[in-house]
Amino acid sequence: MIKIEHMKKEYSNATPLKDVSAVINDGDVISIIGPSGTGKSTLMRCISQLEKPTAGKVFIDDVEITDPKNNIDQIRLKMGMVFQSFNLFGHLTVIENIMMAPVDLLKQPKQEAYNNAMRLLRMVGLAGKADNYPDELSGGQKQRIAIARTLAMDPDIIFLDEPTSALDPTMVGEVQSVIRDLAETGKTMMIVTHEMAFARSICNRVFYMDEGGIYEDGTPDQIFEHPLKDKTRQFVQRLKVLELKAGTKEYDFRSVVSEIEQYCRRNQVDIRLTYYIQLAYEELVQQLLISRLNTQVDVIIEYSTVEKRAVVTAKWNGPKFDIDSISDEPSFIMINGISDNISYEHKESDEQANQIVIEMSQK
Ligand SMILES: Nc1ncnc2c1ncn2[C@@H]1O[C@H](COP(=O)(O)OP(=O)(O)O)[C@@H](O)[C@H]1O
Ligand SMILES: [Mg+2]
Repeated sequence: MIKIEHMKKEYSNATPLKDVSAVINDGDVISIIGPSGTGKSTLMRCISQLEKPTAGKVFIDDVEITDPKNNIDQIRLKMGMVFQSFNLFGHLTVIENIMMAPVDLLKQPKQEAYNNAMRLLRMVGLAGKADNYPDELSGGQKQRIAIARTLAMDPDIIFLDEPTSALDPTMVGEVQSVIRDLAETGKTMMIVTHEMAFARSICNRVFYMDEGGIYEDGTPDQIFEHPLKDKTRQFVQRLKVLELKAGTKEYDFRSVVSEIEQYCRRNQVDIRLTYYIQLAYEELVQQLLISRLNTQVDVIIEYSTVEKRAVVTAKWNGPKFDIDSISDEPSFIMINGISDNISYEHKESDEQANQIVIEMSQK
């Protein structure tokens, strides 16, 4: 079991990990997802002690490996790392690459290390390449060798940092298939990947990283189907978000309309849906709300590039809004005609108590 307590990692001009706590159980296969630069690699490097956290503690089976008084050489050997860039030794053959660490560091007899390396080569489907040099292999084959080399140390936990990102698309599948087999053996694994379907299919847990830490930790079903938090949802549905403020002093209707147009063009929203989004904005926000409310309205436009759906949300502070007072207006009837659903909600406790949500899709 790995326990992380209040881990922080600070660089001179970035603090990717602000305060991370988590427990990783034996046999967990954790997919780490999130936008680039959110500390996914840093998290794995700090757990595996390739880097020293600025603050906080990491325990492995109740031994604090961040405590300099503890000798962690043995524990470190039990943590395997697979990188995007393979890192094989070019002057050694495939079998020598795999045998090196077990012989040098674990003092395994050569014959035993050889037998074990051959077993692992068969497992990754490359027994025939034992005597080749890395240069003679494709990227997918190199990465399978790198995985075999990591397994030769019989690690208790394996960290894989974007193991397929450097590969030609035709070779992603063969590497994923080796990783999938590995995940099924019950090894504890953490894997950073941008391949969402793969991430989802092999793991029992997902860390979505954002805002300096593990922003949401859940089952694959939760994270991919019912995320609890906004940013997770935006990420997994690959939502493109545009936030606008209407009704302020600087507010300029024309420039907002053109901003929406550019946003739609940038995200390849189809022409009709672009028109619907603009219409929803003009009729709801401009015609109906701003004139009545005399307050700032925050407008959020979200477009899912996966589902080709758009959601326009208008939020504002103030007393409960009488939605019936606008429901007979031609503007409202028009929005009703183009949308899949319109809902109004008033939350007493919320800062922005009123909210109208319009859902639209590419027909
Ligand atoms: N060795 C380093 N020195 C300085 N800044 C770093 C270093 N490694 C990572 N960073 C910064 O920390 C942040 C997180 O990086 P990283 O963990 O690589 O993100 P991810 O893997 O999620 O893309 C980035 O802003 C990056 O520039
Ligand atoms: Mg990274």
